[in-house]
Amino acid sequence: MDFKELRYLYIDFFKKKGHQHIPSASLIPENDPTVLFTTAGMHPLVPYLLGEVHPEGKRLVNWQKCIRTGDIDEVGDATHLTFFEMLGNWSLGDYFKKDAIIWSYEFLTEYLKFTPDQLHITVFEGDDDAPRDTESAGYWEELGISKDHIHYLPKKDNWWGPAGLTGPCGPDSEMFVDTGIEACSAECAPGCNCGKYFEIWNDVFMQYNKEESGKYTPLKVANVDTGMGIERTVAMMQGKKSVYETEPFVQIIDVIEDLANVKYSEDEKTDIAIRIIADHVRTATFIIGDERGIVPSNLGAGYVLRRLIRRCVRYGKQLNMKTPFMSTIARIVVDMMGEIYPELVQNAQHIYQELENEELKFESTLQHGMTELEKIMTKLSENNQTILSGRVAFKLYDTYGFPFEFTKEIAGEKGFNIDEEGFNKAFDKHKELSKQAQKESFKGGLADHSEKTTRLHTATHLLHQALRTVLGDHVEQKGSNITPERLRFDFTHPDKIDSGTLKKIEDLVNEQIQRKLNVSMEVMSIEEAKNKGSIALFTSKYEQQVKVYSIGDFSREVCGGPHVENIGELGYFKITKEQSSSAGVRRIRAVLE
Ligand code: ALA
Repeated sequence: MDFKELRYLYIDFFKKKGHQHIPSASLIPENDPTVLFTTAGMHPLVPYLLGEVHPEGKRLVNWQKCIRTGDIDEVGDATHLTFFEMLGNWSLGDYFKKDAIIWSYEFLTEYLKFTPDQLHITVFEGDDDAPRDTESAGYWEELGISKDHIHYLPKKDNWWGPAGLTGPCGPDSEMFVDTGIEACSAECAPGCNCGKYFEIWNDVFMQYNKEESGKYTPLKVANVDTGMGIERTVAMMQGKKSVYETEPFVQIIDVIEDLANVKYSEDEKTDIAIRIIADHVRTATFIIGDERGIVPSNLGAGYVLRRLIRRCVRYGKQLNMKTPFMSTIARIVVDMMGEIYPELVQNAQHIYQELENEELKFESTLQHGMTELEKIMTKLSENNQTILSGRVAFKLYDTYGFPFEFTKEIAGEKGFNIDEEGFNKAFDKHKELSKQAQKESFKGGLADHSEKTTRLHTATHLLHQALRTVLGDHVEQKGSNITPERLRFDFTHPDKIDSGTLKKIEDLVNEQIQRKLNVSMEVMSIEEAKNKGSIALFTSKYEQQVKVYSIGDFSREVCGGPHVENIGELGYFKITKEQSSSAGVRRIRAVLE
């Protein structure tokens, strides 16, 4: 069974159990300043897990494209991918542990044909926040999993979420396949990283909301959130030891072998480089080719993309690959995955071009770094010094993308030693600072539903319509980002907007606020929403029910909510900044006073 077959088998199975198939959301979360990428299928569903009504009902199923970069510098082993696909089924206040577990077992054994003997299960051992999950263990046992294949583990292993610092979360029950390899020790069990037990699926019982204070409060309704890794599950079903031995990686690795004139699985160092290139090109292809695609930059998600590309180029150099090479590999990704993610095909040329530009740009940055390093070494020689400071090595890393080993090698050739301790100190400080920055950006929690953000969200709808009225219908939303302080809205428009026009837009929004229009919501099919002239990104492929929010007779937009009930309570709307966001896209920041 391959990655295409598995997804439809899963979707059809859960459709039979009354679930609605919803589309994969974008990789770039909207209205959520707390995370850079969509990390799990539950992520776009957070408002519904917190109690919003979902237009498709209480049982949902999908596949979701996900990115988890974590510590990028650690990717390269045989199991971790920065981009992966997750199959998931959800109960929004409907079924709970019993049905979730019965269906997981049925799908694993009757559809995927794993024997109960091959499976190992973990459940939450309990602590002050939530009780020991003997209930779930009991269901697994009744179904036929033997007691010694059910393991109780603590919070660090068997608790999932929240995706940011705050939000829905709960104890989980994870499903592992025994790969059959020898146990690393007598204590070896699921949770051990030796490779014997391979996690493929996770049923999360989302009953709690983690608050900023760290407290876990019960959610209004108990939900189920599950996630099955497609790549991992396919690898296990095909009896492979690694996700890199399955499609599309087999073909991607073929191309890398050709380009680099090397062979996979002959030398560990070469294998790591090949895996990193294969993984990073696929991830970069999906980020640039996303329906809300972004390009490399020095900030946020654009910076992660830049680091992925740079890392790829560096490992390409290690294999003596000629730059640019990424677009050749990206073509395989588009060819193999474009059927499932048509946005890749639509954006194919853009993807290849951006990859090529960034690779060439990095090539020239590396050249500059070399010149700088040579200058420094000459100076040191003139002063009869033989130690390159940690500060310099760190600057080469930070500004020019030189990994420490790379600098050490070049310096070593000229007879220099590097102050490794100094480098590590500078590196740790940098890590601490970026951790702090990330923590800051997580403040406010995932998909903040405070009154302030709800008001700004409604104001965003007003702004969107006002832009279309004043500038024209070519205005399309490209992104939205709301914090409790301000809204930020990106949209298509070719030129700078002069201050007179901005004033008109602002006035139009304020006129509506003074009209004290009511906000109402209706659930309808995409088709109907379209016919009624609602604003939306109609990218969805299949029949789908959506929520349409109307603000009096002024605006009608497909959206998940929530919104205020009457816009009279919004106060005064003020545009604080208008600037370029990228080619053909403008950005407006605004506040409510
Ligand atoms: N959200 C859960 C996970 O990612 C299912 O494992």
